[in-house]
Amino acid sequence: MGFKEIKHPLIKDKLTRMRKNESNTKVFKENLDEITHLMAYEVFKDVELKEFEIETPVGKTTGYKLEKQIVLVPILRAGLGMVDGFWKLIPNAKIGHVGLYRDEETMQPHEYFAKKPKGSLKDKCVIILDPMLATGGSAVLTINIVKNWGANNIKLVSIVAAPEGRDRVLEEHPDVDIFVASLDDKLNDDGYIVPGLGDAGDRIFGTK
Ligand code: PRP
Ligand code: URA
Repeated sequence: MGFKEIKHPLIKDKLTRMRKNESNTKVFKENLDEITHLMAYEVFKDVELKEFEIETPVGKTTGYKLEKQIVLVPILRAGLGMVDGFWKLIPNAKIGHVGLYRDEETMQPHEYFAKKPKGSLKDKCVIILDPMLATGGSAVLTINIVKNWGANNIKLVSIVAAPEGRDRVLEEHPDVDIFVASLDDKLNDDGYIVPGLGDAGDRIFGTK
């Protein structure tokens, strides 16, 4: 599949609320949660199902459940704001965490935390969550980490992407499917997505 921008009026409306400079932490977080929830419809569209027989009050029929274990991997901090949007739909998902910060000068990501759920991630459906795909450095590093954990079926879900980040991930990890709510115009000289929505972590946690 490669890269998919999920276009939907509700997503556009909610993303506009997130982008606005005057939106406070509450508005930002609520709309992030709702967009993630809406994106799940598309992200899970092609996941494999296992069939099994069930009985309803009036007869037997075929039931379905997700074939693969779902593993959510938020990139700290901002990715945390996307966990609940998926977890509400898939409460038995396992969660791994990768903590990265981007050096403001070099724009290179630095790892400060990584915690894998129990067991290998081989043949599980691993979904990396980060609202911002800017240079792509953080996403590429996280994909390397989850591949080291055994992952061979990986999706990356971001809210806003720059073309530079999309291209870098597609080039370095062509096996990973990328879903975004908006492909924006470009990066500015500070490595921020334009028009973007500013520093997602700071806007979620009110740290600036
Ligand atoms: C932001 C964002 C991504 C990263 C994207 O995190 O949440 O993880 O930058 O940039 P990149 O594509 O150029 O790597 P940041 O490092 O600001 O940390 P935070 O989430 O703790 O604020
Ligand atoms: N990280 C953010 O939080 N925002 C950007 O625009 C780029 C990286």
